[in-house]
Amino acid sequence: MHDEIDALETTAKILVIEDDEVLRRLLIDVLGDQGYEMEATASGEEGLRAMEQDVFDIVLLDINLPGMNGMEVLRLVPARQPEAQVVMMTAFGTVDTAVEAMKQGAFDYINKPFSTDELVLTIRRALEEHDLRRELARLKQRARGVGSEIQIVGKSPAIQRVVDLIARVAPSRATVLVTGDTGTGKELVARAIHAASNRANKAFMPINCAAIPDNLLESELFGHMKGAFTGAIQNKKGLFEEASGGTVFLDEISTMSMALQPKLLRVLQENVIMRVGGRQPIPINIRLIAATNVDLKKRVASGQYREDLYYRLNVFPIEVPSLRDRKEDIPLLSNYFLQKYSELYEIEPPKLPARTLDRMMAYYWPGNVRELENFIERGVVLHASGGSATLGFELPSDAEERDEGAGILDEAQRKRWTFEDLEREYIFRVLESVRWKKTEAAEILGIDRRTLYRKLKRYESEGARSPE
Ligand SMILES: Nc1ncnc2c1ncn2[C@@H]1O[C@H](COP(=O)(O)OP(=O)(O)OP(=O)(O)O)[C@@H](O)[C@H]1O
Ligand SMILES: [Mg+2]
Repeated sequence: MHDEIDALETTAKILVIEDDEVLRRLLIDVLGDQGYEMEATASGEEGLRAMEQDVFDIVLLDINLPGMNGMEVLRLVPARQPEAQVVMMTAFGTVDTAVEAMKQGAFDYINKPFSTDELVLTIRRALEEHDLRRELARLKQRARGVGSEIQIVGKSPAIQRVVDLIARVAPSRATVLVTGDTGTGKELVARAIHAASNRANKAFMPINCAAIPDNLLESELFGHMKGAFTGAIQNKKGLFEEASGGTVFLDEISTMSMALQPKLLRVLQENVIMRVGGRQPIPINIRLIAATNVDLKKRVASGQYREDLYYRLNVFPIEVPSLRDRKEDIPLLSNYFLQKYSELYEIEPPKLPARTLDRMMAYYWPGNVRELENFIERGVVLHASGGSATLGFELPSDAEERDEGAGILDEAQRKRWTFEDLEREYIFRVLESVRWKKTEAAEILGIDRRTLYRKLKRYESEGARSPE
């Protein structure tokens, strides 16, 4: 399995810039045999042109070149290939220049004549550095991401079923569609699949489709060629290429535009991508996991989503249950988060008062596990800051009330709501209490469905809480 994956992986691409034809061929042969993808030019000018056409991981650059010399080329590499590592090739007597080149940003140099071993080792080191830098950049980018150890807490049959499905699908490359209400743990499930797969030591690349404007999303995912659009000042690999060998997690997949959907479909069907402005299909090797908290089938029915893409995504669906449908997990999850945040804030884990737990069991948890987690964290923080000597922390009063739909008047008075604010808030609470079944809500509210829709439309355009 591992071998197959390794063979599939897009290999590192090396650009050789060397005027000596014999050496140039030798380099192509030796490094090509190592499985690297090779391209070679005889002059700096040609090399720079090549850098405008493609993305390279390593540039192997001769110092003495006819025309533009190696040092000049070196200075021009970062603007074209910001992520490439440059290795200089030096002849006898140019060691000083080589040292200077390292100061200018070259990764390493090798002295001619060099042995095959020397060459291969140097390239390998440069590639390790390349990967390391990329990894570091990624880690920095989400320094506040989910912890490395992934644990899906819960004993309920509903969540155990999810755990089973994860174990079953992880070893394959099958596309997974994770569905479920907000905060139920969809991303956690995706991470768990990645961690249990043979791609675990490769990248897990989460992308929230809703967070990136449509025109940017395409170039983020697929990359672009220099000049493809204003601002595309150099070739750039997209996330699908960056994540090679790993897993791409496309969150809120329902928000992807009709224009972009066929391009994603092509990725799933043919495992190739096309950079924006590019003309060569580029093979990629990723595993795709998508998530949504809206019903994609309904989007298909209303013509907002391509049916063919839906079926491609839905190869292996996993539905994550809402917390209210597995209330027996509440005590377990509470203890887990109590432990987690007590460690984080360095306090003895407090115990949940029975009264609080009772209320938690009765509560509706519209924000699911995330809401529970936030609630416990807040409690631990209050406790840690000495809010109370006993470990009394309470369910937030409005949370508690939301379940019963009571107390809204107190809140309205306290916060000096207008009549309209109150109406809106009440409508939302009723909707939440019936899980957004609008016919049922309209009945409770004593208005007809059309009126309810009209009001919701208006709230939406006013930027109030949106019904999703
Ligand atoms: N079964 C679980 N065990 C432990 N932690 C969980 C579990 N389910 C969810 N969590 C935690 O709850 C939080 C929310 O989970 P996650 O971000 O995966 O939800 P989501 O479904 O992707 O939410 P959204 O719909 O808002 O994107 C995270 O901190 C996650 O670690
Ligand atoms: Mg999420």
